[in-house]
Amino acid sequence: MAPSLTHRSVPVKGMAWRAGVWSETGLAVLLLLQCCSAYKLVCYYTSWSQYREGEGSCFPDAIDPFLCTHVIYSFANISHDEIDTWEWNDVTLYDTLNTLKNRNPNLKTLLSVGGWSFGSERFSKIASNTQSRRTFIKSVPPFLRTHGFDGLDLAWLYPGRRDKRHLSTLVKEMKAEFAKEAQPGTEQLLLSAAVPAGKVTIDSGYDIAALAQHLDFISIMAYDFHGAWRQTTGHHSPLFRGQEDASPDRFSNVDYAVGYMLRLGASANQLVMGIPTFGKSFTLASSRTGIGAPILGPGIPGRFTKEEGILAYYEICNFLHGATVQRLLGQQVPYATKGNQWVGYDDQQSVKSKVQYLKNRQLAGAMVWALDLDDFRGSFCGQNLRFPLTSAIKDALAAA
Ligand SMILES: *[C@@H]1O[C@H](CO)[C@@H](O)[C@H](O)[C@H]1NC(C)=O
Repeated sequence: MAPSLTHRSVPVKGMAWRAGVWSETGLAVLLLLQCCSAYKLVCYYTSWSQYREGEGSCFPDAIDPFLCTHVIYSFANISHDEIDTWEWNDVTLYDTLNTLKNRNPNLKTLLSVGGWSFGSERFSKIASNTQSRRTFIKSVPPFLRTHGFDGLDLAWLYPGRRDKRHLSTLVKEMKAEFAKEAQPGTEQLLLSAAVPAGKVTIDSGYDIAALAQHLDFISIMAYDFHGAWRQTTGHHSPLFRGQEDASPDRFSNVDYAVGYMLRLGASANQLVMGIPTFGKSFTLASSRTGIGAPILGPGIPGRFTKEEGILAYYEICNFLHGATVQRLLGQQVPYATKGNQWVGYDDQQSVKSKVQYLKNRQLAGAMVWALDLDDFRGSFCGQNLRFPLTSAIKDALAAA
């Protein structure tokens, strides 16, 4: 690490703590105390979580304004080449979210555009055509300013080979527009992107070096490495490739993904490492319960998230009653089994290891997918603690 020891390094790109330590003047230390923690904690909120039943229903007013440094609202639509709302009540929810800044003025909020339902094809069309791209880019700053956001997050899932160049152009031109739009006295809008962690997906769709030149930060979606398609049990977000690793490649772990992004030209101080507050579950095919055990398919849907193969952390807390928990020593993550159900997930201990790892790598911080999958009410996981996983990440980031 080569800290640039100017005073402007204070709240920027996670350098505050280091600047504070190195500063002789004490000014940076003072600013540090008033301002933000050194590391970014970028937390996604998903608008569809409002529709989960009962205790699973999550609105932005459930978010602790001091928990994360950045909250990203997902997702926005693009309609007639212009950024647009997705949900009927988005404008209200935007307002609820951005009102959190009254309580914590240092909190930054971004709006994420795209996502799985939006898909890649429409992004592709807009980004490849000069006129539509221009229209889209022009529509973004007024939309963000109107609704009180501090920036845009691009969630193009996922660009293909022919989109690579267009994604780079889109990012470059968006950033230029943000620079042009910034008035004296207002902060320039932030630009970030969520990037998958799978080597094949990165290789086909992303020119990381080109993107890194213009993005304020890059969130690596360092999860979903393993799924039912593999036909065996396996953890979806292992920190390292373990000896137990049943996956056929050496790429399917957080450590590889982070190292790969750095080699491709992203700088450490703009990389934010994704940590899931959800697990991936499987239905076992036999009495074998270890890593690499045969499966019949994805696990049964959770009571609230209602999606095969995925459980929110708060659903996992329920599942753990009467379950057997094992820790993968090499991969540094736990899994739990009960009956014919198997789930690989993250807990307070594994997120601590992951934060230690990202600190050793001098990354910019952690990203959480998603706040609404953590025990946001504090009613499922005991300890009477709201957001137990995200809080554990926050505490580990703040620890010396
Ligand atoms: C998003 O925009 C497209 C294009 O205008 C529209 O067809 C679609 O219904 C919109 N999606 C939502 C969820 O509003």
